[in-house]
Amino acid sequence: MKPEVIMLMTSSLDGKLHPSRWTLTPDGERKNWGAMFESVHDALEGDAWIIGRITMQEMSRAAAHPPTSVPEVERPLHVATRDAKSYGIVLDPSGRAHFAGGTIGGDHVIALLGRNVADAHLAELKADGVSYIVAEGAEIDLAAMLETLNRAFGIKRLLLEGGGTVNGSFLAAGLVDEVNVLVGPAFDGDVAQQGIVSHPGGLAGTCELSFRSATPIANGMVHLRYAVSRPRSA
Ligand SMILES: NC(=O)c1ccc[n+]([C@@H]2O[C@H](COP(=O)([O-])OP(=O)(O)OC[C@H]3O[C@@H](n4cnc5c(N)ncnc54)[C@H](OP(=O)(O)O)[C@@H]3O)[C@@H](O)[C@H]2O)c1
Repeated sequence: MKPEVIMLMTSSLDGKLHPSRWTLTPDGERKNWGAMFESVHDALEGDAWIIGRITMQEMSRAAAHPPTSVPEVERPLHVATRDAKSYGIVLDPSGRAHFAGGTIGGDHVIALLGRNVADAHLAELKADGVSYIVAEGAEIDLAAMLETLNRAFGIKRLLLEGGGTVNGSFLAAGLVDEVNVLVGPAFDGDVAQQGIVSHPGGLAGTCELSFRSATPIANGMVHLRYAVSRPRSA
C-alpha cells in the first residue's frame, strides 16, 4: 500500500521558498511563519515527513564519519527501529547527508539511497542508529520506496516538505494526494530564486489540482489546500 502523501510548503506570494529573502510585513515576523508551519505540520497528523538531501543538510550538519573497518552491511533494507512515533526521511541518492544519531528533531531518520552508495556509508548510518532503504535500480523508484516505507515501517501518511526539487519529483511521479501551501504576505521578486516546486521540463500534463479550502490563519498567512489527481487524459 502507498502511504497518503501530503505536500506542505511555506511560500511567498510569488511562489518562492526562502523566507529569509522575502519582503517584510507589519502583519508578523518570519518566526511567526515558522511556528505556523509547525502547527499545520502537527495538525496534518502525518506519521512521517520527507525532505530532499539539500534541505536535510541544512538540518543535520554532521560530517562524514565512516567506521575504520567496514562490516558486512544489509542491502536493500536496514530497519533500526519500526516503532518510532514519527519518522524523518531524506531522499539522498549519493549518501551525502550524515547524522549525529538516529533521530532528527526527535523523529527516527530513514535515508532513501541510490544503489551505488558505498558500504562504508551504510555502515556509518547503521552505527548512528539510522534506518535506510537502498534503491535496486539505477534511479530511485519513488513509488517502490513508498511501498517499502509502508510495509517495513508502517508509514500511512507522509508529509512531503520540500524543497522544490523533491516536491517536483513526487508530483511528476503522480504520487501526491494533497497540496498545502502557507502563503505569506511577502514577495521575493528575484527570478533566480527557487520556487516551491521545480521539475526539469515542467509539470504540465502530470497532475491536476482541485480546490479544497482557503483558510486565513494568522500574521497575514493563508492556508491553501488542493486535492491532486492524475490528468483526466492520462
Ligand atoms: N519554504 C519551505 O516551506 C521550505 C521547505 C523545505 C525546504 N525549503 C528550502 O528549500 C531549499 C532546498 O530546495 P532544493 O529544491 O534545492 O533541494 P531539496 O529538494 O531539499 O533536495 C534536492 C536533492 O534531493 C535529491 N532528490 C530530490 N529528488 C530526487 C529524486 N527523485 N531522485 C533522487 N534524488 C532526489 C537530490 O540530491 P543530490 O543532489 O544529492 O542528487 C536533489 O539534488 C533549502 O534551501 C530549504 O531551506 C523551504
